[in-house]
Amino acid sequence: MCGIVGYIGEQQASPIILEGLKKLEYRGYDSAGIASLDNGSSVIRRSQGKLVNLENILRDQPLTGKVGIGHTRWATHGKPSEINAHPHKAGSIIIVHNGIIENYLQLKDQLKQLGHTFKSETDTEVIAHLIEESLKTEADFEQAVRTSLLQLRGAYAVCILNDKEPGVLIAAKLGSPMVVGLGEKEFFVASDIPAILAYTREMVFMEDGEFVIFRSGTAVFSTIAGNSIDKKARHIDWSPMMAEKGGFRHFMLKEIHEQPRAVRDTIAGRLLELDGDVYLENLQFSDRQLAAVKRIIIIACGTSWHAALVGKFYIEGLCRIPVEVDIASEFRYRNPVVDENTLAIVISQSGETADTLAALREAKSRGALNIAICNVVDSSIARESSGVIYTHAGPEIGVASTKAFVTQLTALYLFTIRLGRANCTIDVLHGQRMIAALKKIPGLIEEALRLNDKVEKIAKKYMNARDFLYLGRGKNFPIALEGALKLKEISYIHAEGYPAGEMKHGPIALIDENVPVVVLVPKGNSYEKTISNMEEVITRGGRVIAVCSTGDEEVKKRAETTIEIPNLDEDLDPLLLSVPLQLLSYHISVLKGTDVDQPRNLAKSVTVE
Ligand code: AGP
Repeated sequence: MCGIVGYIGEQQASPIILEGLKKLEYRGYDSAGIASLDNGSSVIRRSQGKLVNLENILRDQPLTGKVGIGHTRWATHGKPSEINAHPHKAGSIIIVHNGIIENYLQLKDQLKQLGHTFKSETDTEVIAHLIEESLKTEADFEQAVRTSLLQLRGAYAVCILNDKEPGVLIAAKLGSPMVVGLGEKEFFVASDIPAILAYTREMVFMEDGEFVIFRSGTAVFSTIAGNSIDKKARHIDWSPMMAEKGGFRHFMLKEIHEQPRAVRDTIAGRLLELDGDVYLENLQFSDRQLAAVKRIIIIACGTSWHAALVGKFYIEGLCRIPVEVDIASEFRYRNPVVDENTLAIVISQSGETADTLAALREAKSRGALNIAICNVVDSSIARESSGVIYTHAGPEIGVASTKAFVTQLTALYLFTIRLGRANCTIDVLHGQRMIAALKKIPGLIEEALRLNDKVEKIAKKYMNARDFLYLGRGKNFPIALEGALKLKEISYIHAEGYPAGEMKHGPIALIDENVPVVVLVPKGNSYEKTISNMEEVITRGGRVIAVCSTGDEEVKKRAETTIEIPNLDEDLDPLLLSVPLQLLSYHISVLKGTDVDQPRNLAKSVTVE
């Protein structure tokens, strides 16, 4: 999830673009760059690390020119470095890009055969070379861009310059956000409103497949294929802070609503549908190496540990390899049995959690193969592991993890397919069915998000409880744990997650009318047993909030409150069940007036033991 900014008009472009990039740093900041055109030549300044590094470079070596493009990077392809930073240039073409091009490798091979050489590892540089190649045959710059974009598969929001055409800026959008700002004889392009709100409140929101060319003080909108379209500007009256949260009141709520996009980005370019397999670009283990794995240990903390617990069900159930799950702060002190046939999987959103990093080092020191599931490219854990499956959730600002969790589950499911295909426990047809189900998840999460208002009402009803219980069976038990963690960490209400079948062994003594009990009871193979656990609670006066499958009348006639979610595939229920639980904890926290994004005593990344 990168940030792009473009400017063309009467002012110097570079300062405007730099200020815009600063407002987009929440989208990622492992490198940045700006290019500007002046007197027919282009100059590019780029830097690794935070934006302030670029700012320092520009202070010493300012850019001049009234047309420019800029980028702040959240790496997906290619590690954070100056060489991988945008803008990228090929011939006279300069580009910045937010998104993931799924077919960039085959395009890169084709271009190499035509004599193109590449400097970076990015998918973005391939687009610049593609346009440079198209310029040889197409009528003009505009047509060369259109022809090139139509060859791309995946997602992009791009700003493109041609230093042979200094008065022209082109932008186009497919799958990644883009807004155009209309000024007095000047135009702005950005990934998000905050970048340009200081300069204009007249915004045109680009839709997928749309294209705009700015020249001679005009903006001409069309489809990428070239059909003219009529775009209306909207007046945006948000405050700058509201704008950074995309109009949402808190980063957590914004990130909850980003989950469909986060899952789409995490599976993008990785599904080999015909083979019923997946391609995990940073996982260099051969099928033979994966097939030799006899035991797996998944190690993590907090919410990532809950994802690990679900991963155990996926891998044991589908790949028939025994899996242990360890809390990272415990793992290295229990003298674990680890050898060269053990695969250690560490899961960490930040990639900096001290306990998880220490556990990775411990597993490696005992000879384990190892991989990491991380959300931050080139983080410590990512760098020290032998292979990484990156979640592409984009920066997660809210301390309470939401979109990162759902993309961790997605990554574990992808890995399960890969492992099962390598050790032949999942055949082509089964792999194809799993992929087909996974592709439906973003849409089903969008459906679950429509529960927001209903869940807000439920939050009002139960917000004053002092204790909550969350119950689930099987792979929904970790979701019960996750729901409880979400509630306690942002609303400060005590909450516990339990296996539903465990109630009779003690916790049922807690039940009375003051203890709301959230029961996860979607249709599936533990449905009947969970219904009877729910009845145990109800007969003792417990107040049940049941999260069940849409239209489940059996549950609706029993529970005090029901939240109905779409469910499609039992293995993927955990991704959908998470959404209402995230919303419930969010709304209760807001109603209680606690600090949703930065709850007391907590840090987003626990880099100390
Ligand atoms: C989850 O909402 C919490 N923020 C916390 O439990 C978090 O999951 C844990 O600290 C692990 O962080 P990591 O995924 O960055 O390693």
